[in-house]
Amino acid sequence: MSAKTEDRKLPLIVLTSPLPAEFKDLLDGRVRVRVFKHPEPLSDDMLCRRLKGASGAVTLPSDSVTAKVFNACPALKVVANCAVGTDNVDLEAAGNLGVVVTHTPEVLTEASADAAWTLLLSIARHGVAGDRLVRRGRFKGWQPDLLLGMDLRGKVLGIVGMGRIGRAVARRAPAFGMHVVYTQRHRLKPSQESALSARFLPLDELVATADVVSLHCPLTPETHHLMDRKRLTAMKEGALLVNISRGGVVDEAALVDCLRAGHLGGAGLDVYENEPALAEGLTRIANTMLLPHIASAGRETRAAMARLAVSDCLAVIEGREPAFRVV
Ligand code: GLV
Repeated sequence: MSAKTEDRKLPLIVLTSPLPAEFKDLLDGRVRVRVFKHPEPLSDDMLCRRLKGASGAVTLPSDSVTAKVFNACPALKVVANCAVGTDNVDLEAAGNLGVVVTHTPEVLTEASADAAWTLLLSIARHGVAGDRLVRRGRFKGWQPDLLLGMDLRGKVLGIVGMGRIGRAVARRAPAFGMHVVYTQRHRLKPSQESALSARFLPLDELVATADVVSLHCPLTPETHHLMDRKRLTAMKEGALLVNISRGGVVDEAALVDCLRAGHLGGAGLDVYENEPALAEGLTRIANTMLLPHIASAGRETRAAMARLAVSDCLAVIEGREPAFRVV
């Protein structure tokens, strides 16, 4: 049997994008690998073509892995999403067809929490506006009332979704003197609450109490537009919103209205409802920091995510239990 024939017998793994890590040691001689390079998110039609004949796919959060993809690619055993969120994958369709879906939690927790605080600190203290002012040559020297922002000490940080990332965000709060309240479906154990100095509140109370609301829940049908116009309006006058979860958790058009009206003091966003498109008017609002979905983009973090996704993909193909199975 020629090497080439042998190769063709190996299962095929498709990476929908190049990833920032070396996998040769993981993959050599065990699978064939095809890597696609593309500048844009992949629609399900594109994925149907690219995943033909593949046993495993390593996907990005911007890829739409719909039921159509699962039906068009019957050889597929596993989709390893290189992200903690899996809202881009039709989990029900995967489950019905017996395709395993994995994700990459834990390795990105600290980098993501750092990014939430980057946004929080920047909008609290007008980091973006200050930078713009200096670059435009409008800095005339120290002034007593230039770009006055929110002092964080003594203020209330409301965390929506107290999973790994929400808890890592909470752990950083004492360094800034903030009090933490949180909400989620299942309350933490009293010992966890006291370790984090975090007080549980129902969502509507949290929204009305917090000076900063930071979103860390997954996007599901239940959390779609969790921060709708009513809740955004119920936030305190001048309060700040931080979102590194998923854009769909916030009604982005309503957020633009609340910011434009001056009801909210600012928003720090890493994710958008219709990425990469932004809601009309969002870029014209002064106190916003708009990041391009990079909350987990630390060098070591992204390499660890990539290795984890690839090794879980391989595990399923070789009949082993992956480290982080979603379905
Ligand atoms: C990125 O957004 C992720 O879900 O990890």
